Amino acid sequence: MIKIYSPASIGNLNVGFDVLGAAIAPINGKLLGDCITIQSSKIFKLIITGNFSFQLPEKMKHNIVWKCWNHFCKILKKNILVLIILEKNMPIGSGLGSSACSIVSTLVAINKFCNKPLNQQELLNLMGTIEGEISGEPHYDNVAPCYHGGLQLVIQENNLISQSIPFFKNWLWIVAWPGINISTSEARSILPNQYNKKTCITHSRLLASFIHASYTQQYYLALKLMQDIIAEPYRKQLIPKFITIKQTMLKLGAMSFGISGSGPTIFMICDDKKIASKIYLWLSNNYLKNKTGFVHICKLDTQGTRTIGL
Ligand code: HSE
Repeated sequence: MIKIYSPASIGNLNVGFDVLGAAIAPINGKLLGDCITIQSSKIFKLIITGNFSFQLPEKMKHNIVWKCWNHFCKILKKNILVLIILEKNMPIGSGLGSSACSIVSTLVAINKFCNKPLNQQELLNLMGTIEGEISGEPHYDNVAPCYHGGLQLVIQENNLISQSIPFFKNWLWIVAWPGINISTSEARSILPNQYNKKTCITHSRLLASFIHASYTQQYYLALKLMQDIIAEPYRKQLIPKFITIKQTMLKLGAMSFGISGSGPTIFMICDDKKIASKIYLWLSNNYLKNKTGFVHICKLDTQGTRTIGL
């Protein structure tokens, strides 16, 4: 029996739409991600547990885990007889890479169960393809950090899908999911098909300079460059009281603020635990719309997807 854990992730990081993403881990040691347990079985069986299992489609063939298994069976040209248990701990449509958590943990688990017929790159490729089937277009900014951990830059050239980027180790990342859902494909469909020349040039400058600032460890420069001119102008309407919340976060001491992936989770960066606690409290009291919503103070998860104890 094998149990695999895959962490939540923040896609885009403001400055890198579809090409930057970071895996996160709460500083209190709790796990924030999905788990897959796999064992041999006489017939294929899928059992779903976890706090957010109620959000998943009832038909097995609509479940991402089944889709991953089905892809793998086609690749290996055999019926892989396993019992898979999905612990669905991440809310879907939250902007925290929930589908990536299920895809990555399932593919890593099946690959391990089958004695690793796919290498890391083939696996990551498949993860992006399946993510694309769900959200409308393949994008790796959740699956890559979820799989490899840390801060990942998506490259997709020369047989290189993603690359680890140095990050700022003292940054605290506060994430708040209000308890409501936004479909990634809808959040993608409200973005323009074309951007003007000035926006393209500014975007290139911000992203290239952010990567430079990360490699040269220029802390304040990196924070200043974390501007979202691609998605935030269009997606902020999807987030309740966006402008007020952004202003409040910056007043409380957040050094950066943004929409995590396609939202509605928001993320803030700071380097001081007291400020992080203030932000945590304010969001817990003011941003959550129901009891399922949550706020976590996180660090980056450097391990990514891994085997954990049963
Ligand atoms: N980069 C993707 C988007 C992430 O923003 O649409 C989705 O979680």
